[in-house]
Amino acid sequence: MKHLVVGASGQIGGAIYASLLEKQHDAVGTWFSQPAKGLRKLDINDRSRVFRTVKELAPDVIYACAAMTNVDRCENEPKESFQVNVLGTANLVEAANRCGATLVILSSDYIFDGAKGPYAEASLPNPLNVYGYHKILTEQHVATCAERYLIARTTVVYGWEAVGKNFIARLIHKLSQGQKVKVPNDQISTPTYNRNLAKALIELVNKESEGVYNLAGATSTDRYNFAVRAAQIFGLDARLIHPVSTAELKQNARRPLKAGLSLEKTRQELSTKLLGFDEGLQQMLKDEL
Ligand SMILES: NC(=O)c1ccc[n+]([C@@H]2O[C@H](COP(=O)([O-])OP(=O)(O)OC[C@H]3O[C@@H](n4cnc5c(N)ncnc54)[C@H](OP(=O)(O)O)[C@@H]3O)[C@@H](O)[C@H]2O)c1
Repeated sequence: MKHLVVGASGQIGGAIYASLLEKQHDAVGTWFSQPAKGLRKLDINDRSRVFRTVKELAPDVIYACAAMTNVDRCENEPKESFQVNVLGTANLVEAANRCGATLVILSSDYIFDGAKGPYAEASLPNPLNVYGYHKILTEQHVATCAERYLIARTTVVYGWEAVGKNFIARLIHKLSQGQKVKVPNDQISTPTYNRNLAKALIELVNKESEGVYNLAGATSTDRYNFAVRAAQIFGLDARLIHPVSTAELKQNARRPLKAGLSLEKTRQELSTKLLGFDEGLQQMLKDEL
């Protein structure tokens, strides 16, 4: 199988690309604004370039990991979010259909309102913010128009990555510098270790699974508890972490509070063990960048 990872310079695309190469798969990855060695440049909004690239590479699987992922920025710049997250992904849908490839997209528990998570695949979406609204629009477009697709929903993905902008990478950086951090104690999710996510997703792809799957961590926690455990596991000073409510943070985009994803359906198909946050953090400590 030939794999094309669009957005391999990002956290999740990077983990998928590295995992594919580790297993000697035939894989090509792309970057957009952060040049990365071995990857080629691609803007998913450049429709003709997307079609040319996909035609030239003729992949069996396209992983659509390219997105505008800053939730507050999406709230402030909804047109840009729509352009990249919805229309850009739609270009990949068409390109995948033209070459008969399976399209894999990454979605989020932000499609839900956080009233009663963790959510199953069949739970009813009700996004609270622009990012979540654009993610569910994209899911619906993919489910309607892609000939073969896999929608992997995930949440609070953490681990080593080139840019180091995920929650745990930033936390480790700040605590290492002795900086205080404010962390919400009322946002519950099922944090997901990036290398574990990549391995599980590739297993589903190899099995030719189609449809919607939750691929997330196996245990729920609030952000504050998650941060404190990370500090303990990485030998950092947890007293620098201050619990606050989400309301106190005054973020532009509303957050689903009781979120996270349940794994009943996924566990029936997957032999890769999805790690709880404690195991995931321990594994991150062992793994190298
Ligand atoms: N991280 C999470 O906790 C999480 C949770 C749920 C769902 N997801 C979803 O998972 C996917 C990947 O997220 P991530 O955390 O890996 O994001 P990320 O680290 O922000 O990476 C985003 C990727 O998209 C690329 N990109 C941005 N605009 C592009 C464009 N116009 N054309 C082509 N590539 C473009 C970026 O390239 P450059 O960096 O080179 O500009 C980067 O490779 C997204 O769909 C996101 O919504 C993430």
